[in-house]
Amino acid sequence: MKVTIIGSGYVGLVTGACLSDLGFKVVCLDKDEEKIRRLQAGDVPIYEPGLKELLTRNCAEGRILFTSDVCEAIEHGDVLFIAVGTPPSEDGSADLGHVVDVASMIGRHLNDFKLVVNKSTVPVGTADLVRAAIAHELSQRDLPYELFDVVSNPEFLKEGAAIDDFMRPDRIVIGVDEGVNKAKSNRMMGDLYASFNRHHSRTVWMDVRSAELTKYAANAMLATRISFMNEIANLADELGADVEYIRRGIGADSRIGHSFLYAGCGYGGSCFPKDTRALMSTARAHGKVMRLVSAAEQVNGDQKLLLVNRLVQRIGSDLTGKKLAIWGLSFKPNTDDMREATSRVVIRDLLTRGAHVSAYDPVAGAEAILALRTDCQDQPELLDRFEVVSEDMQALKGADALMVLTEWKVFHNPDFQLMKKMMRCPFILDGRNLYNPETLSELGIAYQGVGRRNDLVQLLTFNDSHDSFPVTPASITQELDLSVDA
Ligand SMILES: NC(=O)c1ccc[n+]([C@@H]2O[C@H](COP(=O)([O-])OP(=O)(O)OC[C@H]3O[C@@H](n4cnc5c(N)ncnc54)[C@H](O)[C@@H]3O)[C@@H](O)[C@H]2O)c1
Repeated sequence: MKVTIIGSGYVGLVTGACLSDLGFKVVCLDKDEEKIRRLQAGDVPIYEPGLKELLTRNCAEGRILFTSDVCEAIEHGDVLFIAVGTPPSEDGSADLGHVVDVASMIGRHLNDFKLVVNKSTVPVGTADLVRAAIAHELSQRDLPYELFDVVSNPEFLKEGAAIDDFMRPDRIVIGVDEGVNKAKSNRMMGDLYASFNRHHSRTVWMDVRSAELTKYAANAMLATRISFMNEIANLADELGADVEYIRRGIGADSRIGHSFLYAGCGYGGSCFPKDTRALMSTARAHGKVMRLVSAAEQVNGDQKLLLVNRLVQRIGSDLTGKKLAIWGLSFKPNTDDMREATSRVVIRDLLTRGAHVSAYDPVAGAEAILALRTDCQDQPELLDRFEVVSEDMQALKGADALMVLTEWKVFHNPDFQLMKKMMRCPFILDGRNLYNPETLSELGIAYQGVGRRNDLVQLLTFNDSHDSFPVTPASITQELDLSVDA
């Protein structure tokens, strides 16, 4: 069985790389010709641990190739995965433009039986749209409707751990509908994922509509857990309790479990924000209101600005002349993905209040600059006060506070003494609860976590050996441009 992946982004590339590593002959198609050129040259356009190694090995062994030639790609696969983006429309609903374009493209090119597998996250009913678009094109060419089937196979991988998630899935959800091709589709999907089911079956079979909704339900549940913990954390702050104890205390209950109970400065990424909004939009279209999901989304919106609000409470709302250091720009560690990252909201707000912002991220610097350029299109001059630096300590030079926004491992155990020396005011706003408030208190570093005994917070002290902002706007702009090129 041969496999074609249509859409070579995070999901498409990981799916293609992993299936080729399991021995399938895979062709990855993308309409972005530059992306395909880079992939053909051995350059992987996204940062995902282990992906480059997997692609390099399987390319060298001739099991995966990249193309922007639609005919070649559709001809190749017995199974055609759709893995294109489903970005949010203005009203929050999923924009299915790419999915329907791909369906029409398949319909224009297929000549023998193809199993179309939808891996993109799509609202209930999308498989019907895909079927209709393919059938329309087939009817134009007098080809029979039975020449294809459409099944749903939503993806649950997490960026930053995507290869492992794909290779060791908790479950594989497959939705197949009644029809003349059902037996064949079941068999092909069974064969495709047989390697994962050798020890015990991980596949959950269902109908297509249930599979489509399963993906949204999973993401909405996880987003709700995070927002719930953030509300508990914010209350803990008021009450002098520590959310880290609470997290462990409730996580030990086997009915609750330990995952997704971390309080912090909000969730982001390409999935939770988009998928919760799309789910609410689907519900609205059917006269229903998703009250819990809506609350989770609102809590998250507020949570992204929690650290800025804390800072403003401590040093005032006008941040002119202040320098803020940021550690962590990507929406989570081990990725350079900046989609809906908390850092974007925080940095824009700080710049608008007049602050200078010096940021460090182990991999996402260049992506962050592109994202901030988009966010500040209406006021590009704000970016004169923004720089991305190449070392964590460099960001701290003369800073009035540090905000930790992403829990990259390298931030877990920094040299606090050096940090104290580097900063004008040793004040850490820890958006990911990485540090021990008592340790920092002993070191004389003012600290605020999320739900972490903020009654322990020290008075701010200022280190007069630093200017309030040592970097000139010109040097910032220069570094910004250099970072983009890099
Ligand atoms: N990123 C994740 O962590 C994740 C996890 C699970 C599910 N998903 C879902 O998977 C889908 C893809 O997400 P992603 O993050 O990989 O998106 P992405 O934006 O990284 O990649 C999508 C790719 O599809 C390509 N494309 C668009 N139209 C095309 C066409 N007509 N022909 C060929 N290529 C085309 C784009 O050029 C792009 O390279 C989305 O529905 C998303 O919600 C994403």
